Amino acid sequence: MTTTVVYPPRPSVDRSRLPPGPRELPVIGQTLRYLRDPIGFMQEAAAYGDLVTMSVKPALLLLVNHPDLVRDIVITHHQQVGRSPNSEVLRYAMGDGLVTANGTDHLRQRRLIQPPFHRSRIQGYGAVMQQFAAQHPRRWQDGQAVDMAQEMSALTLRIVVKTLFGLELPDDARRIGAAFELINNYLVTRVNQPPRLRKLLHALPAPYTLRFKRARARLDAIIFNLIAQRRAAPTQDDDLLSLLLLSRLEDDSGDSQLLTDQQVRDQTITLFAAGHETTAVCLTWTWYLLSMNPEIQRRFHAELDAVLGNRPPSLDDLPSLDFTDRILTESLRLYPPIWFWSRMAFQPLQLNGYEIPPGALLAAPQLIVQRDARWFPEPLEFQPDRWTPEFRESLPRFAYYPFGGGPRQCIGEAFARMEAKLILATLGQRWRVHHDPRHRASMLPLISLRPKNGMPMYLERR
Ligand code: HEM
Repeated sequence: MTTTVVYPPRPSVDRSRLPPGPRELPVIGQTLRYLRDPIGFMQEAAAYGDLVTMSVKPALLLLVNHPDLVRDIVITHHQQVGRSPNSEVLRYAMGDGLVTANGTDHLRQRRLIQPPFHRSRIQGYGAVMQQFAAQHPRRWQDGQAVDMAQEMSALTLRIVVKTLFGLELPDDARRIGAAFELINNYLVTRVNQPPRLRKLLHALPAPYTLRFKRARARLDAIIFNLIAQRRAAPTQDDDLLSLLLLSRLEDDSGDSQLLTDQQVRDQTITLFAAGHETTAVCLTWTWYLLSMNPEIQRRFHAELDAVLGNRPPSLDDLPSLDFTDRILTESLRLYPPIWFWSRMAFQPLQLNGYEIPPGALLAAPQLIVQRDARWFPEPLEFQPDRWTPEFRESLPRFAYYPFGGGPRQCIGEAFARMEAKLILATLGQRWRVHHDPRHRASMLPLISLRPKNGMPMYLERR
């Protein structure tokens, strides 16, 4: 059974009582401009101030462009806002998991999922991450051309399939990955459609929709089968699926129950969907930035050589890899894998002196705020050295939020950072990367911030 959320309708508000924004065209506002180039449009809109009205139909959409206002949404007013109607698309795949939940349901689910993601728990996954990263380049050769986006996706897929489901055969990862890719492509095409049109298209038996539903059925069959096996013969494994099968969810009366198969399925698909592509995208952009900044790549290698010598990195080495950490932090600033999120006001709230009515959408794009020269001098430059302790201290809390914040902060942050750092260190120890000069890297702002046309690179053995 899927939860039905009742969203407030689009409010009708006197334009003069809303924040300024780009000029509106009759009827369509700026909708086409937004759909054609959302990043360019938001960059232009940001020039109108810290809170900007964007006339993107049929919504009333406000761009939030100041760290204090981001904080107001994710912390101060978090009870007055919820997921936007666009998140219904995620429900097609994730069902009623943590990402799509609202209000007290979200709080209960959060309490359920938090313990398996505790820092001490996920440490155990470090060995899997390092081992799979070390095995990955067996197919790589000196001078070889690769698509780094595909390479990172394949590697992080194997890691997530092992840590989430306890499966380690490459074929298992391929089957799950292939089904999920079809699902993801479908969600991406549906996410920007107006809710009513989307609902209609999703209900029609068009070939594209049927392909999605078949892929989802294949993925469900794999997961329900695994759940049945684990329930019949519980293991001592510490994969996330096993931990979820032991977890208890509170109900309204305060009692707690083991999860049903459907609930376990929804949470595992949610974690898979939220954790796989984001980490792959983060690594892809990081290799790109290293390749475009040879001096930084040289210093990255020098740190790995000094700290690790010839031995493979382990969890204990991570605190000593300070420059690698800054590289990752700066890469997440320039290319935040979740580049944008929005919330819908469910109740009236005050923001920057304006009365925000229920039904308004508030968009707080990391990609815009994290490239703002007010907080980051030379914002488009890749400067890992900017991340000194003093700089971090001086930065407003929500000038940098690649993992979000408040009660909905990314639950997988420590997992993702550990994975990304271990992969960078393990591969960087042996390989230097060069971006293919014939390729012009550009951003494809879908649900995550993929590079357009992959990321062709050449590998050089060190
Ligand atoms: C570099 C990698 C990652 C990035 C940049 C990232 C980013 C984010 C962001 C920005 C949010 C908040 C979205 C919002 O407020 O609407 C989020 C939420 C979430 N992330 Fe991540 N994430 C990453 C990796 C992961 C991993 C590895 C997992 C799990 C294995 C994960 C699981 C989740 C879940 C379940 C949520 C929803 C939390 C909630 O609503 O309470 N993420 N992530």
